[in-house]
Amino acid sequence: MLQAIDLHKKFKTKEAVRKVNMQLEAGESVGLLGPNGAGKSTTISMLSSLIMPTNGEVLWNNVSVNKNPEALRKALGVVPQEIALYPELSAKENLHFFGRIYGLKGQLLVERTEEILQKIGLTDRKNDIVKTFSGGMKRRLNIGAALLHNPSILIMDEPTVGIDPQSRAYILDTVKQLVEEGMTLLYTSHYMEEVELLCDKIYIMDQGEIIAYGTKETLKSLVSDNQTIELKAHILSQKFEEALKKYFPTANIRKEDEILLITMPQNEEPLATIFAIAAKNAVTITSAIVKVPSLEDVFLHLTGRALRD
Ligand SMILES: Nc1ncnc2c1ncn2[C@@H]1O[C@H](COP(=O)(O)OP(=O)(O)OP(=O)(O)O)[C@@H](O)[C@H]1O
Ligand SMILES: [Mg+2]
Repeated sequence: MLQAIDLHKKFKTKEAVRKVNMQLEAGESVGLLGPNGAGKSTTISMLSSLIMPTNGEVLWNNVSVNKNPEALRKALGVVPQEIALYPELSAKENLHFFGRIYGLKGQLLVERTEEILQKIGLTDRKNDIVKTFSGGMKRRLNIGAALLHNPSILIMDEPTVGIDPQSRAYILDTVKQLVEEGMTLLYTSHYMEEVELLCDKIYIMDQGEIIAYGTKETLKSLVSDNQTIELKAHILSQKFEEALKKYFPTANIRKEDEILLITMPQNEEPLATIFAIAAKNAVTITSAIVKVPSLEDVFLHLTGRALRD
């Protein structure tokens, strides 16, 4: 559907993006994860034909976007990283303005605006001027502006940066719903939890390049296929530890700071057995946490650096 082929972007001497290949199929929810300055926004700008690549091309339904940028623009909604709204206009007036840019008018424009206001939860504030809105409300309106023309693909560039937790949760819910309704999504973020929540496929980007690609599961298995169960108990007796070792002979079992760590493959489901062995040995477990690798661990594994700086 939307395809990036060997995209390359140079700003004067800075190579912002190198050899980027990406593919977005209809109905897919794809994440683009990377730290500050990785080249995410530059990639998105090229994908949505806002800037020209230095090399490479973008294909929309197998046709170069250069030949027909209008066809892509009609199908695409882009939520930019920087908020682009008119502060002196009301929420409704802003949406009317953006709707007209996309060619909506008359009754259709009025109806779409009301639908979108509902979707982004701003119906009761529609006549207030945007200058009086919180950061989260502006972000929601910014998303609404990209949805007016009913795009089939939505590209979002870090839509939850710098807002309160409540607005963030609202936006994530809205996006999740859009995906469930069949929207094709490209979601850019440096928050791995958001990408994990929303996306089926993930591209990890660093220093201008895609360094890994796959489902969450494939990416995490780059780090390890193991899970570690962290057990806390009132008293971790030696007898209990030995019983566990006997029952799980291939697991790695060790004690660190009064926490018992049990590492074994992720396809095993040992909790019920662990609790049963504990009961048999009169051990009261006070907490059990199952840890599997996160996308953060994947990034660390691939680059030797943390995703967040
Ligand atoms: N117009 C420009 N002129 C010069 N350099 C640029 C320009 N736009 C981006 N860059 C540089 O290209 C690199 C990638 O920037 P980009 O904005 O694509 O990163 P990003 O992954 O979106 O980062 P962030 O998470 O901070 O938004 C950075 O080093 C940035 O300084
Ligand atoms: Mg950016």
